[in-house]
Amino acid sequence: MGVERIQTLAFSNQLKELPPQFIRPVNERPENTKAVEGVTVPVISLSQPHHHLLVREVAEAASQWGFFLLTNHGISPWLFKLLQEVGEQFFALPQKEKEAYANDPSNGNFEGYGTKMTKNLEEKVEWVDYFFHIMAPSSKVNYDKWPKNPPSYRFVIKYNKEMLRLTNEVLELLSEGLELEKKTLKSSLGDEKIELEMKINMYPPCPQPELALGVEPHTDMSALTLLVSNEVSGLQIWKDNKWVAVDYLQNAIFVHIGDQLEILSNGKYKSVLHRSLVNKECKRMSWAVFVVPPHEVVIGPLPPLFNDHDPPKFSIKTYAEYRHCKFNKLPQ
Ligand code: OGA
Ligand code: NI
Repeated sequence: MGVERIQTLAFSNQLKELPPQFIRPVNERPENTKAVEGVTVPVISLSQPHHHLLVREVAEAASQWGFFLLTNHGISPWLFKLLQEVGEQFFALPQKEKEAYANDPSNGNFEGYGTKMTKNLEEKVEWVDYFFHIMAPSSKVNYDKWPKNPPSYRFVIKYNKEMLRLTNEVLELLSEGLELEKKTLKSSLGDEKIELEMKINMYPPCPQPELALGVEPHTDMSALTLLVSNEVSGLQIWKDNKWVAVDYLQNAIFVHIGDQLEILSNGKYKSVLHRSLVNKECKRMSWAVFVVPPHEVVIGPLPPLFNDHDPPKFSIKTYAEYRHCKFNKLPQ
């Protein structure tokens, strides 16, 4: 049986009202949980000439917000444009052509075109379709799973190179922010075996966006997530018991601290709770790169970061075990 795609539903012209499986409980609806006004998220320029100030800015944002916008990162605007164009072109393909890439998470096939399915009737469906594939390391990349159309999709490999460079740079800054040797976080996450995963989120226009969510509140199980979006805002992050809207900033990279860095840092860095809203008229798209350790790597608080007075706050387990618990909503 085929999966019902949000894009198909959204563009079927009889859709005036949101179907019930998308209507959030009253206390989760965007109309009842509006973001606070006048709060802005940290913006950090990588071209800050004073290294110690850069380290401090990154460490403060990671501990207080678990999130920051990165500017002057050296990625050319044409590369963002390319990423955006090839992603949009893929989702504009005829439905039948996209279905040839359908994934099947229940059988362990995560790569490809997908729409999250719910396990029971109480669970609500998110207003989003996605495309997911591995970008690095090259030994784990399967180009057969990447879109073949548009043919220029293969140039996303250039974006992967830039994401690897930025991952190294940000992990070094975050290590220094914990007063650790520069390479510590990277080596704890598997060094050259660190994996980069691309998830393109496609949020079609939604008839009643005040009742729905694009992505429900969650923390990412990655170490880091590096995200860019099209010009439509929608991301919100949880700070001091309130939602804060993240405004679109052209060519900035939205850096999320994920669960694995929260664990390694023994809670000094926060895995940011976030959600995304949808829009009545505009399609929103985002490109999230998840930086994750390989499955076999064991993650736990780093020994220099705990002692008798400040004991470890998290259990030690492989990334595979962590992932299993998170997917199945089991205690960690
Ligand atoms: C995600 C996510 C937010 C966005 O894919 O994990 O949080 O802005 N996306 O699309
Ligand atoms: Ni996320």
